[in-house]
Amino acid sequence: MIPKAELHVHAEGSFPPSLVAQLATKNNIAIPSHIFGPHETFVWKDFLDFLKTYDTASHVLQSGDDYYAIIYDYLMRSAKNGGIYCELMVSPDHARICGIPYEAMLDGCIRAIDQARKDSGIEGRLIITCVRHFDIDACIEVAKLAVKHPHPYVVGFGMGGDEVNFPNRQFSKPFQIAHEGGLQCTTHAGEMLGAESVWEAINYLPVKRIGHGVRAIEDANLIQTLIERDITLEVCPGSNIALQVYPDFASHPLRALYEAGVKMTLNSDDPPFFNTHLAHEYHLAEHTFGFQPKELIQFTRNAITSSFADAATKDMLLRKLDGYVH
Ligand code: ADE
Ligand code: ZN
Repeated sequence: MIPKAELHVHAEGSFPPSLVAQLATKNNIAIPSHIFGPHETFVWKDFLDFLKTYDTASHVLQSGDDYYAIIYDYLMRSAKNGGIYCELMVSPDHARICGIPYEAMLDGCIRAIDQARKDSGIEGRLIITCVRHFDIDACIEVAKLAVKHPHPYVVGFGMGGDEVNFPNRQFSKPFQIAHEGGLQCTTHAGEMLGAESVWEAINYLPVKRIGHGVRAIEDANLIQTLIERDITLEVCPGSNIALQVYPDFASHPLRALYEAGVKMTLNSDDPPFFNTHLAHEYHLAEHTFGFQPKELIQFTRNAITSSFADAATKDMLLRKLDGYVH
């Protein structure tokens, strides 16, 4: 099994309907049944409805122990499918709306990473993530919380949410706070909007990576700039097709971005919402996009070298990858 690593998966979008239902029962929270589809999937219509459904499902989280449960579950499932490293985005706003204090959320995440490492060997890190459509003040507050509570596992700051109505250029303040506080940064861009949104991200925000960024392919100058600045794209092909960023895999620019020389990683984004998981993204890369096994290993190497983990952790992961004989 090829060792796999991912840099772009949302904790609140990572747990399947069976675990949503289990937590709903435990916490006595009513969840509308229409959000559940067959075979551990969710039902939603379009991007904004997806975000709403995601928020609804995440309401079952009621404690730091619940964060422990979903992150431990995710990391263990990933490890079973060859995952060796995972950077999880966690949203303090989602926790706050559910009444979970930041410290409790963080404590649950940290315990889950420790336990999953003990039980499977997988390594995990956290990206504290704000939600752009919850407004700029909420994003500033999230950045301040991330900086106020340093921990070796808290390695980054990120931003998700509605890219169309909340452009990247408006969010330099929270990113500046996070960056000055020692966190490495990434933002969603070039997913629902085109190259201009990626330009804004790299010109206004101190980002080393871009979540998605696939629509950068629409601008050759931008592609050159991404390469020159060594900015990595966290590409999530299954998510892009599910959210209709592209109508089908044949139209998806994964191969074109690769040929252009952009550094990329493979990621699952919100696996049960998009009927995917990381191993499936690797499978798609091989069987739909025609990448060779050695190129799949390079995607993993990219994820390790572009991760926000410390140098010793990266070395350990690279040694693990080098030890893989296929
Ligand atoms: N939050 C969770 N998944 C997201 C996505 N694909 N785009 C923007 N925000 C998100
Ligand atoms: Zn995402």
